Amino acid sequence: MNTIAQDTRKMNAILTSMVDAVIVFDLNAKIIRANKAAESLFLVREGALLNKQLDELKKDQEISNMICEVLETGNEVFTETVINPSTQIYRVHAVPIKDEWENIEGAVVVFHDVTDARNFDQMRSEFVGNVSHELRTPLTSIKGFVETLLDGAMENSATCRRFLSIIDAETNRLSRLIEDLLTLSAIESRERIIQPKPVCIVRSIASVMNILGPQISEKDLFVEFIYPYPLPMILADEDLLGQVLINLVDNAIKYTPHGGKIIIRCRKKDSRIVATITDTGMGIPHESIPRVFERFYRVDKARSRSQGGTGLGLSIVKHIVESHGGEVFVDSEVGKGSTFGFSFLVV
Ligand SMILES: Nc1ncnc2c1ncn2[C@@H]1O[C@H](COP(=O)(O)OP(=O)(O)O)[C@@H](O)[C@H]1O
Ligand SMILES: [Mg+2]
Repeated sequence: MNTIAQDTRKMNAILTSMVDAVIVFDLNAKIIRANKAAESLFLVREGALLNKQLDELKKDQEISNMICEVLETGNEVFTETVINPSTQIYRVHAVPIKDEWENIEGAVVVFHDVTDARNFDQMRSEFVGNVSHELRTPLTSIKGFVETLLDGAMENSATCRRFLSIIDAETNRLSRLIEDLLTLSAIESRERIIQPKPVCIVRSIASVMNILGPQISEKDLFVEFIYPYPLPMILADEDLLGQVLINLVDNAIKYTPHGGKIIIRCRKKDSRIVATITDTGMGIPHESIPRVFERFYRVDKARSRSQGGTGLGLSIVKHIVESHGGEVFVDSEVGKGSTFGFSFLVV
């Protein structure tokens, strides 16, 4: 047997279990039903919405107008809006309720939270904007130098050589940028499966020092590596760990003036190995510290560019470390230097 009471109970169960806020209005725009989600959206206690009009709650005029429109015209109406006092963005969908002769009896309004989707859209379009800008800058410069060469500068061999070496540097920057973007997207899309194995971080650091040796000697930097013996192995994807170390040591080299000092330390803390890279470089202003791990964020764009930076190094570091269950941190003082650190789990 299917009684009205049973139907009502079912309907209430459905409405209560919904994440979306649902409000049902009668022909006079009075609320005849509202689920829990609706009560929390409008910050009222249980049952407080019943027999009220939205106007009485002094809420959004836009929604009240929408309901009037649905009740008058019998058309469905959509809108996207922020409902005070929340900061969430809702997609609001109002539909008429009609009887069997198509007479309008009331309206149902559903509020669907689309904040995450909208934030994601915005992040994506900012990212695309940043990437395009980063690609355009070296391309514009390459094009300019090529045109000048073709216009006759080619005839002078010294100028020709100088311009070609600039073009070479810009091309290198473009390919580094593409490499970094591919690395980021591979880690983010989890296409690059992380394969953690026992790794000796001391060996990884030694091999990075080998790779960056020429840059270190070129700037006459003094590098010290301090670690207790024996140090337990960590669980890491060796290639990715190498990338983390390269990016951090590369920054320490780039942002430290000639003759400066870099200290790399490793120590065991609980079930982790914490590694830090301290330099005596230019440091990072207090207000920029929380942002340095963001993609494309640079304290000094011109300086980063002139050093061949892509602005992606630290965001890659953060991604790799966090995808291993570790953490990154930074401490810095302008004019004194910076310490970047990260942790990995021991085996
Ligand atoms: N060791 C450091 N000392 C001073 N500033 C640093 C250091 N490491 C990073 N930064 C700042 O953080 C920014 C972002 O670093 P990163 O993501 O590696 O990009 P970049 O390609 O510019 O090196 C740099 O442009 C720089 O302003
Ligand atoms: Mg860098």
